[in-house]
Amino acid sequence: MATDSSPALDLSQPMATLLRLGTAQAHEKAEHSKGAAWLTRGELDRDEYIRFLMMLYHVYSALERALDRHAAHPVLAPTYNPALLARAPSLAADIAFLLQASSDWQAHPLHTELLAHPPPTFAQYVARLDELAEADPAPLLAHAYVRYLGDLSGGQFIRRRLAKAYGLEDGRGLSFYDFAPLGAANAGGATIGDMKKIKEWYRDGMNAGAGDNAAAKDAILREAGLAFDLNTGLFDTLRPPTSLSTPDSVAVTSVESTKAGQLRDPHEAVYRQFSVLSLIAALILAHYFLASRGMSVEDCLVWRVEALKPWLSS
Ligand code: HEM
Repeated sequence: MATDSSPALDLSQPMATLLRLGTAQAHEKAEHSKGAAWLTRGELDRDEYIRFLMMLYHVYSALERALDRHAAHPVLAPTYNPALLARAPSLAADIAFLLQASSDWQAHPLHTELLAHPPPTFAQYVARLDELAEADPAPLLAHAYVRYLGDLSGGQFIRRRLAKAYGLEDGRGLSFYDFAPLGAANAGGATIGDMKKIKEWYRDGMNAGAGDNAAAKDAILREAGLAFDLNTGLFDTLRPPTSLSTPDSVAVTSVESTKAGQLRDPHEAVYRQFSVLSLIAALILAHYFLASRGMSVEDCLVWRVEALKPWLSS
């Protein structure tokens, strides 16, 4: 099931470069999925958002158990830093807060229902992490990369949207999106600049861990394709927001996003079509008006080009 993302890449490049280049397409797919749009726009129903956090909790628990177990593995050791990165504890705290359920949130019907009927991709994701922990730890680096660098990259943007959508402006219930600056003892407080530094440190660690072992790099790169697929699959398990009574076409427009992570206004395409139609209608009316006053065809053409200039330059 792994995505074959590596064939064209030169495996002598550093691990971080290979991962960025080799997963660009898979990232694009995850980024443009409907579930990602619902999540990042804060459109998911509150219970569905909590159910998503519960799935993430189990994914991170499996990942972080595996990383703890193989902390001394040469590929994994340079990026092993649970005090800085571990997300399972913050997810548990956020879920408990959102459910107002303290530490017994696991007994909540939303959670028992999820475990009784796990979406197949969710079950596969956790099983894959357990399998690697058991038999082949090096590709765990791919899973850690996809989750942690993703959280460090888009997290702050999503955080703001979620705070507004679910009434969490005081920050409680959003600790999953908080990181501590590199070397700081306390949780939280990292700025975008701090997160950049953490990412740089992480990339250096990946490069050091994989070194010039081409076989390990290839395996990690392929595993990263699978990790992205699994994350896209998790988004696909999300239930559409009840507030959206729109058909698929509108939802697809709404997931369009810029590379900088700013979501485009889904109405933009409609505005643009409307303005083109208005312009054509105006030109036809002007044509009849000028022709009725005896203007020649050439005059008319020159006038049209002049009239179009400001519109074209805008
Ligand atoms: C709404 C969806 C998403 C948006 C808007 C988004 C946006 C971005 C942006 C702007 C960056 C570049 C950050 C930088 O230059 O430092 C980035 C990097 C990254 N994202 Fe996403 N992302 C999305 C979804 C995801 C998902 C679902 C995953 C995987 C679970 C993911 C994993 C990553 C990773 C691993 C990187 C680091 C790439 C690298 O530099 O090697 N992203 N993302």
